[in-house]
Amino acid sequence: MRQALKNVREFFLEESLKRFFQGTYALNEHLASHTSMRIGGPARVMLMPRDVHDLARLVRFLRAVGMRFAVLGAGTNVLIGDSSLPLAIIKLNAPFFRKLKITGQTVFAAAGVALAAVRDEAAAQGLTGGEFLTGIPGTVGGALVMNAGVRGLEQEPAGTWHSMADCVTKVGVMDEQGNIALYSRAQIEFGYRSSSLKKGIVLGAWMEFAPAEPAAIAERTREFFERKQRTQEFSRPNAGCVFKNPIDATLSAGRLIDLCQLKGRAIGDAQISTVHGNFIVNNGAACFQEVKSLMELIQQEVFRKFAVWLEPEVEIWDTGGRQ
Ligand code: EPU
Repeated sequence: MRQALKNVREFFLEESLKRFFQGTYALNEHLASHTSMRIGGPARVMLMPRDVHDLARLVRFLRAVGMRFAVLGAGTNVLIGDSSLPLAIIKLNAPFFRKLKITGQTVFAAAGVALAAVRDEAAAQGLTGGEFLTGIPGTVGGALVMNAGVRGLEQEPAGTWHSMADCVTKVGVMDEQGNIALYSRAQIEFGYRSSSLKKGIVLGAWMEFAPAEPAAIAERTREFFERKQRTQEFSRPNAGCVFKNPIDATLSAGRLIDLCQLKGRAIGDAQISTVHGNFIVNNGAACFQEVKSLMELIQQEVFRKFAVWLEPEVEIWDTGGRQ
């Protein structure tokens, strides 16, 4: 009976999509292959709109039929449940959403462009400012929504951070009614791993860089790369830093977890990295619950020892969608 109902629902969904949708889609798409953690069950449907008009029609349709959706970038900062998600997942990876164009010192990158491409193209044009993106996985859309960033290099003043907020000048956003707005930098609120852009769908952004000597750009890129390689986890699937650095503590989340001697601790195939305490790696067949339990264990241990409650940096999408 349940299966029959599901089939009927899928039939109507496909029939509706056939009428207006020009992109591609996949029903019951397993999200594990769309996340860097390699974890995630099937979403009801994954939709890859062809362009901005297709996206607008799609969000209006989803709104009309009452189907909730979430936008997935490169899936590098999400932890997704193993059971079926009653969500439509929108992925902006059609060629339209991977446009990258440089005019003078201005870089335009659509939401689906990889951060590494922004950095490389800017460097190829003799522009500095994107080197900090080295080793940050993910897409422009995701990086803007969460204001991705890193600490400054050793030679920079203590407390320096580099983030998307520093280089972005304008962002195109679509709201849930399918309307497009352009926001100037001043109209966007950026915080530590947060931004006001979360409310809409980021379509693309303009970033401003500065001219520099190619050798200096290459050296700076090498320094960011070398630091990442030395201090972070690259050998096994992970979602980067799992927790935000606490604002009410002088120590970073990674340091606190390290001081609790939790590095290397495992639940099933989920393990706290031995390289960096704030990374959880998937040793092969880790499931959502194993990672979640490990996160809870970290929160409890750090709280017990330091009276600091760590807040997740990764977004948790379990049945019910974004949290
Ligand atoms: N540390 C330890 N043990 C550990 C990990 C770190 O003692 O296991 C110490 C380090 O030696 C250092 C301090 O903790 O003295 C801070 O560590 P780190 O420089 O690695 O910085 P972080 O605060 O842990 C932040 C961002 C990273 C970003 C790096 C770049 C957050 C939560 N994390 O990490 O971002 O790559 O700075 O320097 O803000 C991410 O967002 O996914 C992410 C990885």
